[in-house]
Amino acid sequence: MSTASKVAVIMGSKSDLPIVQGAFKIFDEFGIAYTARVMSAHRTPEIAAEFASHAKENGIKVLICAAGMAAHLAGVMAAHTTLPVIGIPVASEPFNGLDSLLSTVQMPPGIPVATVTAGKAGGKNAALMAVAILALNDEALADKLADFRKRQSEDVEKADDELQKSMAK
Ligand code: RP5
Repeated sequence: MSTASKVAVIMGSKSDLPIVQGAFKIFDEFGIAYTARVMSAHRTPEIAAEFASHAKENGIKVLICAAGMAAHLAGVMAAHTTLPVIGIPVASEPFNGLDSLLSTVQMPPGIPVATVTAGKAGGKNAALMAVAILALNDEALADKLADFRKRQSEDVEKADDELQKSMAK
């Protein structure tokens, strides 16, 4: 792991990669160093627990965990660290992600997992949530986040303008 990494993006399987790619894009845009790993709460439980246990001393500030089906990865990682853990429910057959959503969001009291949108939007939102957490102690990053929101609003206004113009024809 790069010692400069502030965020760790963990996926339960390499099949989850398309979901977390949206997170990588956001981190690249914001210039945030991250590390990405495949670790499974049930296939490599010791490796996952070890990683979470040492994440804080390794300079990680936020963990993002993407997993599908009985998606316990985020909960298991959260059990081994006091760092904030953001969970992305990954959709899978046959329940289309409802299983992953409930597994990730329904943590019993005491060990929270901040659960974001299921699917690809979750990758993006998990990264934006991590940026918001990091921005609490980083004014330059907070400015970048405000800028991102402003550009996003402008894009919607522009789309509305274009729609109004095309409908007036
Ligand atoms: C979970 O089971 C993974 O996070 C993945 O979403 C799902 C299926 O895993 P694979 O069979 O594709 O490895 O542990």
